[in-house]
Amino acid sequence: MTIDLRSDTFTMPTQGMRDAIYTAQVGDDVYGEDPTVNRLQEMGCQLTGKPACLYVSSGCMGNLIAIALQCGRGCEVLCTRESHIVCHEIGALSSIGLSQPTIVPSTPEGLMLTDGLDAFKRSYSYDMADRTLVEVENTTSGIVYPIEKVKAIHGWAKANGMNVHTDGARIFNAVVETGIPLTEWARYTDTITFCLSKGLGAPMGSLLCGSNEFIEKARRLRKLLGGGMRQIGFMAAAGIYALENNVDRLRQDHEHAAAIRAALEETGWAKIERFGTNMVFFSCHGTTNQDVIGYFRKHDILFAEDAGFCRMVTSINVDDGMTDMVVRTIRGYRP
Ligand SMILES: Cc1ncc(COP(=O)(O)O)c(C=O)c1O
Repeated sequence: MTIDLRSDTFTMPTQGMRDAIYTAQVGDDVYGEDPTVNRLQEMGCQLTGKPACLYVSSGCMGNLIAIALQCGRGCEVLCTRESHIVCHEIGALSSIGLSQPTIVPSTPEGLMLTDGLDAFKRSYSYDMADRTLVEVENTTSGIVYPIEKVKAIHGWAKANGMNVHTDGARIFNAVVETGIPLTEWARYTDTITFCLSKGLGAPMGSLLCGSNEFIEKARRLRKLLGGGMRQIGFMAAAGIYALENNVDRLRQDHEHAAAIRAALEETGWAKIERFGTNMVFFSCHGTTNQDVIGYFRKHDILFAEDAGFCRMVTSINVDDGMTDMVVRTIRGYRP
């Protein structure tokens, strides 16, 4: 059986999730009449403490809507060079969201440097874009922001008349890792989106949360983007199942990633470059990334390259036995 460490987006719905999809009550969600979507959105409000929530098709759509509404034509969003909105969303924030990204300094792991922010204060000038939004990605490549940093970014943004949007695609990994509830993380952001389709294991969907006024506008923009869905409660049911069953188990993914990290550290050829929650990034020495990837592929273990490093991501796809197999294969590799 193939062990897939390419990403936590390759997860397959379990039988319980498939049953939840099959038996879901549905209605026309464009009219707000899908009871399962409405329940999922209520869960989003309870989990984040935000007054309103919208089910969107993807993390990219959630980020785009949040940026377009809080930034937009003639405005800038502050973000890091490594952020998903910059690197992996086909420039949607500018091509559709009409917003200009401004890159702020980050650590080698990609976390925003809070002490660098003061250099980005800007007073009004007729010929300069307004800086209206700061975007924080938590986790960034598996690494959790210290909550103090998140507070500092939010405090700085507010002191400078800006909003904060959190791309919390994997915020539940941060919740499980730190024990800090989502309501606490969400206090320091105006809007937040999180994915049901990553480690939580649903086939699709993200929740975008914020104020009532923001979500009302977001609903219209979702429609404009072609993202109004009808009997989508089938997929929302998968999301509810994921939130009810698959959050605490992320802890196992973190343990599996830690075991893989420890095995890599013992080799002479791998150097850990980034590590956090369910992701391990490493460089290869005395060999090449492609050689290592090829060797593992022969053992039916898949992983990818990212940012020039090898990257292994654990998920619900990978159980204890599979983790042992990965560890044995790491130990068996000779450059
Ligand atoms: C950090 C981050 N944000 C946003 C997204 C986008 O999510 P989606 O693939 O659902 O559009 C991803 C996807 O991998 C991601 O890793």
